[in-house]
Amino acid sequence: MDDWNQAASLLRSARFAVALTGAGISSESGLDTFRGGGGLWKKFPPERYATLSAFRRNPERCWEFFLELGRLIERAEPNRAHRILAAWEARGLLKAVITQNVDGLHQRVGSRRVVEFHGSHRRLECLACGAGAEAPAAGETREAPRCSCGAVMKPAAVLFEEAIPARALEEAQRLSEACDCLLVIGTSAAVVPASHIPGAVRAPRPARPGGGAVIEINPEKTFLGASDAALRAPASEALSRLDSLIQEETGQSWNLPKASPA
Ligand code: OAD
Repeated sequence: MDDWNQAASLLRSARFAVALTGAGISSESGLDTFRGGGGLWKKFPPERYATLSAFRRNPERCWEFFLELGRLIERAEPNRAHRILAAWEARGLLKAVITQNVDGLHQRVGSRRVVEFHGSHRRLECLACGAGAEAPAAGETREAPRCSCGAVMKPAAVLFEEAIPARALEEAQRLSEACDCLLVIGTSAAVVPASHIPGAVRAPRPARPGGGAVIEINPEKTFLGASDAALRAPASEALSRLDSLIQEETGQSWNLPKASPA
């Protein structure tokens, strides 16, 4: 069986399939990925723009990066890959998405159980007093937003040196334990602890002595290591092909959801 049919059959027979997504799934929505030639970290080296200590030293400079990311997110529309995952969740084929993305595109097409492992760029938090707020539209913001306590606020997206939000970490752990088939889509698997999730799914446990299956979707090789199927294609193409195979195998058909406004 080739990797495509293997992946379709694993997904179809899974009892608790989960997707782990990264920047690559949103690249076809016009969002830059982080690593690689044209990646955001080339223009905004994280040690200057995206660590907690950089933010504490110079929050205004970090906001140059946050505003650029906000502008990219504001212009982005969910793509076919986001829509297929939402359709699968609605059909019960997929139970949840754990995303490293802070762009909210999964939710905009109706994915309901979404764990924002690296937080969200659509909210702000104040490190000084703990207040939270909605992020202002990036197109209308030129300066770092300030909290009523006077401190510069930070997007509620995780910076390097920051911990993963406790609720997201716990929810991801619960999902990894229940998961018997993990789709790893558009991530270089270079950043811990998200990169440990596939290993946790593969680990044998009493209820699942053979461990869970891992399917990778990525045009490039990554740090993921072992997988049960590796689909080397862009996310929307790979998911469209899998979607067709599953619809053929099950004899059912479904429509893809439309995006709601940002
Ligand atoms: P990366 O930029 O590290 O990796 C993006 C991956 O997407 C690469 O492996 C690409 O090959 C792949 N890719 C590109 N186009 C694709 C497409 N159309 N379909 C599928 N895959 C495609 O991004 P992440 O792995 O998401 O964290 O990065 C993880 C974390 O590192 C981010 O959440 C961010 C960053 O530092 C924080 O800021 C805390």
